[in-house]
Amino acid sequence: MRRWILAAVLAALPLPPAWAAAGAPTVADQSIAAYLQPLSGLSPAERDLFDQGRTLFDRPWVMAPKAGRLHDPATLVGLGPVYNDISCLGCHVRNGGGGAPDGPGIAMHGMLVRLSLPGPGPHGGPLPLPAYGDQLNDHAVPGVTAEGQARLSYIVRTVVLAGGQRAGLRVPHLKVSDLGFGPLGAKALFSPRIAQPVYGGGLLEAIPAQAVADYAARQRAQGGPVRGRVNQVWDIALGRTVPGRFGWKANQPSLAQQAAGAANGDMGLTSPLFPDKNCRAAQTACLGARRGPQPDLTAARLQALTTYLRGLAVPARRGAQAPAVLRGERLFGALGCAECHRPTWKTGKTAALAALAGQTIHPYSDLLLHDMGPGLADGRPDFQASGRDWRTPPLWGLGLARRVNAAAGFLHDGRARSPLEAVLWHGGEAGAAQAAFIALPKGDRDDVLAFLNSL
Ligand code: HEC
Ligand code: HEC
Repeated sequence: MRRWILAAVLAALPLPPAWAAAGAPTVADQSIAAYLQPLSGLSPAERDLFDQGRTLFDRPWVMAPKAGRLHDPATLVGLGPVYNDISCLGCHVRNGGGGAPDGPGIAMHGMLVRLSLPGPGPHGGPLPLPAYGDQLNDHAVPGVTAEGQARLSYIVRTVVLAGGQRAGLRVPHLKVSDLGFGPLGAKALFSPRIAQPVYGGGLLEAIPAQAVADYAARQRAQGGPVRGRVNQVWDIALGRTVPGRFGWKANQPSLAQQAAGAANGDMGLTSPLFPDKNCRAAQTACLGARRGPQPDLTAARLQALTTYLRGLAVPARRGAQAPAVLRGERLFGALGCAECHRPTWKTGKTAALAALAGQTIHPYSDLLLHDMGPGLADGRPDFQASGRDWRTPPLWGLGLARRVNAAAGFLHDGRARSPLEAVLWHGGEAGAAQAAFIALPKGDRDDVLAFLNSL
C-alpha cells in the first residue's frame, strides 16, 4: 500500500475509546499468573465450582490402582491407558498456549498431532485411522504400548521486508516414528497443533451464534478476499450439527464438549460425553488395562471443569494509550487485520454464568474459518474446515504470552516464535493484509507490533 493512501485511510478512521478500555471482564494482573484469574462477579456457588474445576485442570491424574489397594480420595484416578499428558495444565501452561519443540530430536510438549484418513467420518467429522484413531497418543501407562512418537524439524526461510529488515521463518517438517500398531499408511493426514490459551473462553462462548453468522454474511457481501465461514460440527449432548467455535479449526461447539474431548483424547479420561476409553480394537493391552470407577470425569466433575473454563478472566491491556500503540492500532484497522481479528463483540443477554452476560468484550477474533493459503495448510479437513482453513485466534492477552510461558509459540503448530513471524506467515484471504504489512516502513511495522504487544 502506498503511504499516502494509508495516510488518507488513517485520517478517516475514528478510534473508539472503548478499544483501549479495560472492560468488566478483564483483570489487571500482568504477572506470570495473568491468565489464572477468575472473572469478578461470580456468585459464591459459582466460585466454589470454579475452584473445584481448577483442581481438576491443574492436578496430575494417575492410573487406576490395583484392585483392593486404597488410594487417597483426593487423588485423581483414571489416566490413560494411552495419553499425551497427565494434566490439562501440562499443555496449557498457566492457562496459556503451548509451544513447538525447538529442534529435531526433542519430544513434543504442550502440543499433539491429529490424524485421519481422507473422506468424512462419523457425523461429518474426520475419518479416524482404524488402528490409531484421530490423534497420536505418545504416552501410555506401564504395560500398555504407546501409539508412537512425533518430532518436528525445521528449514528456516528468510523473508526480506520493506527497508531491508530480515526475518527467518521456520518451515516445519513432521516425522512420526516408533509406531506401536503398524504403519499409518500413505493416505494418513496429519495436523500438529499446539495447546491454545484457555482464558476468556466463557466470554467467547457467550457471543450469540446469530451475531457470528451475521458477521460472516457481512464479510461475504463485501465481495472482497476476506470470506469467513462458520464451521458446522457435531454436538454430542444435543445429538445434532451446530456451529463450531473452539479449537484451531473451530471443531468443537462448546467448552463442555471441548473439555470432555480433551480429557478423553489427550488424557484418556472417560466422561458422560465420552464413555469409552480411547483404545482402538487392535490395542488389546489398552482395552484390557485396569479401570477405576467409571466415568473418570463424572457429570459433576465435568460441570466443575467447564465452570472453571467459563469463569477465567482476560488480562487488561497495558500501555494502550502510548502514541506508538495508538498508531499501531489504527494501522491494524487500515491494513485489514481487524476484518478477521474483529476487535469488539457484545455477549448475549443471558449466559451460562451471569457475569458473562451483556459484556462488551475485545477478543480480536471473528471466530470464523478463513483460507490462510498453502503455507499454513495442514491438508487435513475437520468437519466443514478445509485443509487450508483456520479459525481466527483471539489476540487478547497476546502480549503476555511469553511472560506466562517462555516456550509459548504462535500459529496452530507453534512454528512462529513471535507475533512478527505469525503475521509474515499469513496468506490466502489474509494475503493482501500480509503484503501491506510487509510494505510498511519499519517504524510503522514496529507500531503494529507494539499494539499487538499491548493486548
Ligand atoms: C497434550 C496437550 C493438551 C492437553 C493435555 C490438554 N489440551 Fe486442551 N488443547 C490442546 C490443543 C492442541 C488444543 C487445540 C485443539 C484443536 O485445535 O483441535 C486445545 C484446545 C483446548 C481448548 C480450546 C480453546 C479455544 O479457545 O478454542 C480448551 C478450552 C481446552 N483445550 C481445554 C483443555 C482441558 C479442560 C484439558 C484437560 C482435561 C486439556 N485442554 C488438556 C492441547 C492439550
Ligand atoms: C483473513 C483473516 C485474517 C486477516 C486479514 C489477518 N489475520 Fe491474523 N490470523 C488469522 C488466522 C486464521 C490465524 C491463525 C492461523 C494459523 O494458526 O495457522 C491468525 C493468526 C494471527 C496471529 C497469531 C496469533 C496466535 O495466537 O497464534 C497474529 C499475531 C495475527 N494473526 C495478527 C494479524 C495482523 C497484525 C494482521 C494484519 C496485518 C492479521 N493478523 C490479519 C486470520 C487473519
